[in-house]
Amino acid sequence: MMKGKTAIVTGASRGIGEAIAGVLMREGAAVFICGRKAETLEEAAGRLNGLGHSGQAIPVVAHVGKAADLEALVGRAKAHNGRLDVLVNNAATNIAQGPCLEFGEVQFDKMIETNVKSAWRLTQAIAPVMVAQGSGSIINISSVAGLRPQPQSLLYSMTKAALIMMTQSYALELGPSGVRVNAIAPGLIQTQLSEFYWKDDARRDRFLGNQPMRHLGQPIEIAEIALMLASGKSSYVTGQTIIVDGGYLLT
Ligand SMILES: NC(=O)c1ccc[n+]([C@@H]2O[C@H](COP(=O)([O-])OP(=O)(O)OC[C@H]3O[C@@H](n4cnc5c(N)ncnc54)[C@H](OP(=O)(O)O)[C@@H]3O)[C@@H](O)[C@H]2O)c1
Repeated sequence: MMKGKTAIVTGASRGIGEAIAGVLMREGAAVFICGRKAETLEEAAGRLNGLGHSGQAIPVVAHVGKAADLEALVGRAKAHNGRLDVLVNNAATNIAQGPCLEFGEVQFDKMIETNVKSAWRLTQAIAPVMVAQGSGSIINISSVAGLRPQPQSLLYSMTKAALIMMTQSYALELGPSGVRVNAIAPGLIQTQLSEFYWKDDARRDRFLGNQPMRHLGQPIEIAEIALMLASGKSSYVTGQTIIVDGGYLLT
Protein backbone atom coordinates (compact mmCIF):
# COMPACT_ATOMS: atom_id res chain seq x y z
CA MET A 1 0.00 0.00 0.00
CA MET A 2 2.92 2.37 0.74
CA LYS A 3 5.71 0.74 -1.30
CA GLY A 4 8.12 3.32 -2.76
CA LYS A 5 6.66 6.08 -0.56
CA THR A 6 8.67 8.30 1.74
CA ALA A 7 7.20 9.46 5.04
CA ILE A 8 8.27 11.70 7.89
CA VAL A 9 6.87 11.04 11.36
CA THR A 10 7.90 13.46 14.08
CA GLY A 11 8.17 12.34 17.69
CA ALA A 12 8.52 8.67 16.78
CA SER A 13 10.94 7.36 19.39
CA ARG A 14 8.02 5.99 21.42
CA GLY A 15 4.25 6.06 21.81
CA ILE A 16 1.88 7.00 19.01
CA GLY A 17 4.64 8.19 16.63
CA GLU A 18 6.51 4.89 16.85
CA ALA A 19 3.29 2.95 16.19
CA ILE A 20 2.51 5.11 13.15
CA ALA A 21 6.03 4.58 11.78
CA GLY A 22 5.54 0.83 12.29
CA VAL A 23 2.33 0.55 10.25
CA LEU A 24 3.72 2.72 7.44
CA MET A 25 6.77 0.41 7.31
CA ARG A 26 4.53 -2.66 7.40
CA GLU A 27 3.01 -1.38 4.16
CA GLY A 28 6.43 -0.74 2.61
CA ALA A 29 7.26 2.93 3.25
CA ALA A 30 10.66 4.41 4.08
CA VAL A 31 9.94 6.34 7.26
CA PHE A 32 12.14 9.14 8.59
CA ILE A 33 11.57 9.27 12.32
CA CYS A 34 12.66 12.07 14.60
CA GLY A 35 12.97 12.82 18.28
CA ARG A 36 15.28 14.94 20.42
CA LYS A 37 17.23 12.20 22.17
CA ALA A 38 19.65 10.28 19.94
CA GLU A 39 19.80 7.22 22.17
CA THR A 40 16.06 6.57 22.42
CA LEU A 41 15.57 7.41 18.75
CA GLU A 42 18.24 4.88 17.72
CA GLU A 43 16.62 2.30 19.99
CA ALA A 44 13.24 2.93 18.37
CA ALA A 45 14.77 2.59 14.88
CA GLY A 46 16.30 -0.71 16.03
CA ARG A 47 12.93 -1.98 17.32
CA LEU A 48 11.12 -0.88 14.14
CA ASN A 49 13.71 -2.29 11.75
CA GLY A 50 13.70 -5.53 13.74
CA LEU A 51 10.00 -6.13 13.06
CA GLY A 52 10.72 -7.67 9.67
CA HIS A 53 8.58 -5.21 7.72
CA SER A 54 9.33 -4.42 4.07
CA GLY A 55 9.79 -0.71 4.80
CA GLN A 56 12.59 0.86 6.79
CA ALA A 57 12.99 3.38 9.62
CA ILE A 58 15.67 6.04 9.28
CA PRO A 59 16.36 8.00 12.46
CA VAL A 60 17.21 11.71 12.29
CA VAL A 61 17.71 13.53 15.57
CA ALA A 62 15.65 16.73 15.43
CA HIS A 63 13.92 19.09 17.84
CA VAL A 64 10.70 20.18 16.13
CA GLY A 65 10.96 23.58 17.77
CA LYS A 66 14.22 24.31 15.93
CA ALA A 67 14.02 25.51 12.32
CA ALA A 68 17.52 24.29 11.42
CA ASP A 69 16.74 20.77 12.69
CA LEU A 70 13.57 20.64 10.61
CA GLU A 71 15.40 21.84 7.53
CA ALA A 72 17.98 19.07 7.96
CA LEU A 73 15.22 16.46 8.52
CA VAL A 74 13.36 17.47 5.36
CA GLY A 75 16.65 17.56 3.40
CA ARG A 76 17.55 14.01 4.49
CA ALA A 77 14.11 12.64 3.66
CA LYS A 78 13.94 14.37 0.28
CA ALA A 79 17.38 13.03 -0.67
CA HIS A 80 16.13 9.45 -0.17
CA ASN A 81 14.31 9.13 -3.50
CA GLY A 82 13.30 12.69 -4.31
CA ARG A 83 9.74 12.15 -3.06
CA LEU A 84 7.89 13.20 0.07
CA ASP A 85 4.57 11.41 0.29
CA VAL A 86 3.47 11.52 3.91
CA LEU A 87 4.06 13.97 6.75
CA VAL A 88 2.79 13.14 10.22
CA ASN A 89 3.07 16.05 12.62
CA ASN A 90 2.95 14.04 15.82
CA ALA A 91 5.57 15.43 18.23
CA ALA A 92 4.12 17.61 20.97
CA THR A 93 4.72 18.63 24.52
CA ASN A 94 2.66 19.67 27.50
CA ILE A 95 4.78 21.74 29.85
CA ALA A 96 1.84 23.79 31.08
CA GLN A 97 -0.62 21.45 32.80
CA GLY A 98 -2.21 23.39 35.65
CA PRO A 99 -4.41 26.38 36.48
CA CYS A 100 -4.59 28.78 33.52
CA LEU A 101 -3.55 31.84 35.53
CA GLU A 102 -0.28 30.22 36.61
CA PHE A 103 1.40 30.22 33.21
CA GLY A 104 3.08 33.13 31.44
CA GLU A 105 4.71 34.02 28.16
CA VAL A 106 7.59 31.56 28.46
CA GLN A 107 5.22 28.58 28.56
CA PHE A 108 2.92 30.13 25.94
CA ASP A 109 5.79 30.60 23.45
CA LYS A 110 7.21 27.13 24.10
CA MET A 111 3.85 25.43 23.60
CA ILE A 112 3.18 27.34 20.38
CA GLU A 113 6.69 26.69 19.06
CA THR A 114 6.65 22.93 19.74
CA ASN A 115 3.02 22.04 19.06
CA VAL A 116 1.94 24.51 16.36
CA LYS A 117 4.81 26.30 14.66
CA SER A 118 6.62 23.00 14.08
CA ALA A 119 3.66 21.64 12.07
CA TRP A 120 3.41 24.89 10.12
CA ARG A 121 7.15 24.98 9.39
CA LEU A 122 7.18 21.37 8.17
CA THR A 123 4.06 21.82 6.07
CA GLN A 124 5.49 24.98 4.50
CA ALA A 125 8.68 23.06 3.62
CA ILE A 126 7.10 19.80 2.46
CA ALA A 127 3.82 20.81 0.79
CA PRO A 128 5.60 22.43 -2.20
CA VAL A 129 7.27 19.08 -2.92
CA MET A 130 3.89 17.32 -2.68
CA VAL A 131 2.24 19.96 -4.89
CA ALA A 132 4.96 19.44 -7.52
CA GLN A 133 4.36 15.65 -7.32
CA GLY A 134 0.60 16.18 -7.54
CA SER A 135 0.06 14.00 -4.46
CA GLY A 136 0.71 13.80 -0.74
CA SER A 137 -0.94 13.32 2.63
CA ILE A 138 -0.35 15.45 5.69
CA ILE A 139 -1.67 14.26 9.04
CA ASN A 140 -1.72 16.44 12.13
CA ILE A 141 -2.09 14.75 15.49
CA SER A 142 -4.47 16.93 17.46
CA SER A 143 -6.42 15.78 20.53
CA VAL A 144 -9.92 15.64 21.98
CA ALA A 145 -8.53 18.48 24.11
CA GLY A 146 -8.57 20.58 20.94
CA LEU A 147 -12.31 20.01 20.58
CA ARG A 148 -13.47 20.24 24.17
CA PRO A 149 -11.72 22.22 26.94
CA GLN A 150 -10.14 20.04 29.62
CA PRO A 151 -9.50 21.19 33.18
CA GLN A 152 -6.11 22.86 33.66
CA SER A 153 -5.17 22.47 30.03
CA LEU A 154 -5.49 25.93 28.47
CA LEU A 155 -2.28 26.03 26.43
CA TYR A 156 -2.35 22.37 25.34
CA SER A 157 -6.01 22.62 24.27
CA MET A 158 -5.35 25.88 22.47
CA THR A 159 -2.46 24.43 20.45
CA LYS A 160 -4.44 21.31 19.56
CA ALA A 161 -7.41 23.44 18.40
CA ALA A 162 -5.03 25.50 16.26
CA LEU A 163 -3.89 22.33 14.49
CA ILE A 164 -7.49 21.57 13.50
CA MET A 165 -7.90 24.94 11.78
CA MET A 166 -4.43 24.61 10.24
CA THR A 167 -5.61 21.27 8.83
CA GLN A 168 -8.77 22.73 7.32
CA SER A 169 -7.04 25.81 5.90
CA TYR A 170 -4.27 23.86 4.18
CA ALA A 171 -6.79 21.26 2.94
CA LEU A 172 -8.81 23.99 1.25
CA GLU A 173 -5.84 25.43 -0.62
CA LEU A 174 -3.81 22.30 -1.36
CA GLY A 175 -6.67 20.01 -2.42
CA PRO A 176 -6.65 21.14 -6.07
CA SER A 177 -2.98 20.09 -6.22
CA GLY A 178 -3.77 16.56 -5.03
CA VAL A 179 -2.52 17.08 -1.47
CA ARG A 180 -4.83 15.94 1.34
CA VAL A 181 -4.55 17.30 4.87
CA ASN A 182 -6.33 15.67 7.80
CA ALA A 183 -6.10 15.51 11.57
CA ILE A 184 -6.62 12.83 14.19
CA ALA A 185 -7.96 13.72 17.61
CA PRO A 186 -7.03 10.90 19.98
CA GLY A 187 -8.68 10.41 23.33
CA LEU A 188 -6.74 8.81 26.18
CA ILE A 189 -3.98 6.59 24.76
CA GLN A 190 -1.58 4.61 26.91
CA THR A 191 1.76 6.41 26.44
CA GLN A 192 4.32 8.21 28.53
CA LEU A 193 2.69 11.58 27.82
CA SER A 194 -0.61 10.55 29.40
CA GLU A 195 0.61 8.37 32.28
CA PHE A 196 -0.89 10.70 34.90
CA TYR A 197 -4.33 9.56 33.70
CA TRP A 198 -3.76 5.79 33.58
CA LYS A 199 -0.91 4.82 35.96
CA ASP A 200 -3.08 5.18 39.01
CA ASP A 201 -5.65 2.34 38.88
CA ALA A 202 -8.44 4.28 40.58
CA ARG A 203 -8.05 7.34 38.33
CA ARG A 204 -7.90 5.14 35.22
CA ASP A 205 -11.01 3.17 36.20
CA ARG A 206 -12.93 6.38 36.95
CA PHE A 207 -11.99 7.69 33.50
CA LEU A 208 -12.83 4.50 31.64
CA GLY A 209 -16.07 4.05 33.56
CA ASN A 210 -17.47 7.05 31.70
CA GLN A 211 -16.28 6.00 28.25
CA PRO A 212 -18.39 3.79 25.92
CA MET A 213 -15.40 1.65 24.87
CA ARG A 214 -14.14 0.62 28.28
CA HIS A 215 -10.53 -0.19 27.35
CA LEU A 216 -7.55 2.14 27.51
CA GLY A 217 -6.64 3.29 23.98
CA GLN A 218 -3.43 1.88 22.50
CA PRO A 219 -1.00 3.61 20.08
CA ILE A 220 -1.78 1.06 17.34
CA GLU A 221 -5.43 2.18 17.40
CA ILE A 222 -4.30 5.64 16.30
CA ALA A 223 -1.68 4.27 13.91
CA GLU A 224 -4.16 2.25 11.82
CA ILE A 225 -6.28 5.39 11.31
CA ALA A 226 -3.15 7.35 10.35
CA LEU A 227 -2.32 4.64 7.79
CA MET A 228 -5.78 4.97 6.26
CA LEU A 229 -5.34 8.75 5.99
CA ALA A 230 -1.83 8.33 4.56
CA SER A 231 -2.94 5.86 1.89
CA GLY A 232 -5.16 5.97 -1.17
CA LYS A 233 -7.92 4.28 0.88
CA SER A 234 -8.95 7.80 1.94
CA SER A 235 -8.56 9.47 -1.46
CA TYR A 236 -11.81 11.48 -1.01
CA VAL A 237 -11.10 12.59 2.57
CA THR A 238 -9.53 15.97 3.29
CA GLY A 239 -9.83 18.69 5.92
CA GLN A 240 -11.27 16.22 8.44
CA THR A 241 -10.51 15.61 12.07
CA ILE A 242 -11.06 11.94 12.87
CA ILE A 243 -11.91 11.49 16.55
CA VAL A 244 -10.42 8.25 17.91
CA ASP A 245 -11.44 8.28 21.55
CA GLY A 246 -13.48 5.17 22.39
CA GLY A 247 -16.54 7.41 22.42
CA TYR A 248 -15.22 9.65 25.20
CA LEU A 249 -16.55 12.86 23.64
CA LEU A 250 -20.08 11.40 23.51
CA THR A 251 -20.31 11.48 27.29
N1 LIG B 1 -1.27 9.88 24.76
C1 LIG B 1 -2.46 10.45 24.72
O1 LIG B 1 -3.36 10.17 25.51
C2 LIG B 1 -2.73 11.50 23.66
C3 LIG B 1 -4.03 11.98 23.55
C4 LIG B 1 -4.32 12.95 22.60
C5 LIG B 1 -3.32 13.39 21.76
N2 LIG B 1 -2.05 12.92 21.89
C6 LIG B 1 -1.03 13.45 20.98
O2 LIG B 1 -0.38 12.39 20.34
C7 LIG B 1 0.96 12.80 19.99
C8 LIG B 1 1.97 11.78 20.48
O3 LIG B 1 1.87 11.69 21.88
P1 LIG B 1 2.35 10.44 22.72
O4 LIG B 1 1.31 10.21 23.71
O5 LIG B 1 2.78 9.34 21.84
O6 LIG B 1 3.62 11.09 23.47
P2 LIG B 1 4.96 10.46 24.06
O7 LIG B 1 4.80 9.03 24.38
O8 LIG B 1 5.40 11.41 25.11
O9 LIG B 1 5.97 10.54 22.82
C9 LIG B 1 6.35 11.80 22.33
C10 LIG B 1 7.39 11.63 21.26
O10 LIG B 1 7.71 12.93 20.74
C11 LIG B 1 9.11 13.19 20.91
N3 LIG B 1 9.23 14.62 21.17
C12 LIG B 1 8.78 15.31 22.24
N4 LIG B 1 9.11 16.61 22.11
C13 LIG B 1 9.77 16.73 20.94
C14 LIG B 1 10.39 17.81 20.26
N5 LIG B 1 10.38 19.04 20.75
N6 LIG B 1 10.99 17.56 19.07
C15 LIG B 1 11.04 16.31 18.56
N7 LIG B 1 10.47 15.26 19.15
C16 LIG B 1 9.85 15.47 20.34
C17 LIG B 1 9.56 12.28 22.04
O11 LIG B 1 10.94 11.96 21.96
P3 LIG B 1 12.07 12.88 22.70
O12 LIG B 1 11.58 13.08 24.09
O13 LIG B 1 13.34 12.12 22.59
O14 LIG B 1 12.13 14.15 21.90
C18 LIG B 1 8.70 11.04 21.76
O15 LIG B 1 9.27 10.29 20.71
C19 LIG B 1 1.13 14.19 20.59
O16 LIG B 1 0.84 15.16 19.60
C20 LIG B 1 0.05 14.24 21.66
O17 LIG B 1 -0.34 15.56 21.95
C21 LIG B 1 -1.72 11.98 22.83
